[in-house]
Amino acid sequence: MFVLRKITDLAQHYLELVINPGSRVIDATAGNGYDTEFLARQVGPQGHVYAFDIQAEALKRTAERLRKSNLIDRVTLYETGHEEMSRLIEEPVSAVTYNLGYLPGGDHNLVTRNETTIESLNQALELLITGGLVVITMYPGHAEGNLEKQKLLSFCSKLQAIEFTVVHMNLLNLLSSPPELLIVQKNHFKQKMKA
Ligand SMILES: C[S@@+](CC[C@H](N)C(=O)[O-])C[C@H]1O[C@@H](n2cnc3c(N)ncnc32)[C@H](O)[C@@H]1O
Repeated sequence: MFVLRKITDLAQHYLELVINPGSRVIDATAGNGYDTEFLARQVGPQGHVYAFDIQAEALKRTAERLRKSNLIDRVTLYETGHEEMSRLIEEPVSAVTYNLGYLPGGDHNLVTRNETTIESLNQALELLITGGLVVITMYPGHAEGNLEKQKLLSFCSKLQAIEFTVVHMNLLNLLSSPPELLIVQKNHFKQKMKA
């Protein structure tokens, strides 16, 4: 069942809209592999997922999950930062997803950092096909996560409106600092719209 409060459900909802059988997509933060597995199912046997993580432990967990669900052949795992994506991936992609922060059940000091996240986002926007989406789950509940969110909002608010549409979603009636969603689409209507 779709749960609006679960930001991962919202992220997957939007990803589903642009991923088709045969699509090429990127999981920029593989972690425990839940998102990689979701993407691998969406792209089907003809599609492909490129998944990044800086931690060997994360990629081990992701690979185990994919092996169990018989999806490992649809995925290339890179043990390196997502800021390397444009060096490693040449083909255009339909979607790039980021689930920022630290590895659940891992070292909480090994978090995504705003400088490399933005460097990578710049590359992701280049790799994206027209109509494709970058979907970012942000965690402002910890200090680096909050800084990363502010930097991402600032970066995305300066993207040319003629080229990109940016949406920021958050849960308004919760007291803590719940995760938030940032979605960027490469526009279809570049020639028609005035910025
Ligand atoms: C919240 S977890 C991702 C959860 C994952 N999407 C899932 O479905 O389980 C964030 C991950 O980002 C990874 N990470 C941190 N910096 C990174 C970077 N520069 N490039 C790629 N991954 C990075 C961390 O090692 C961690 O595993």
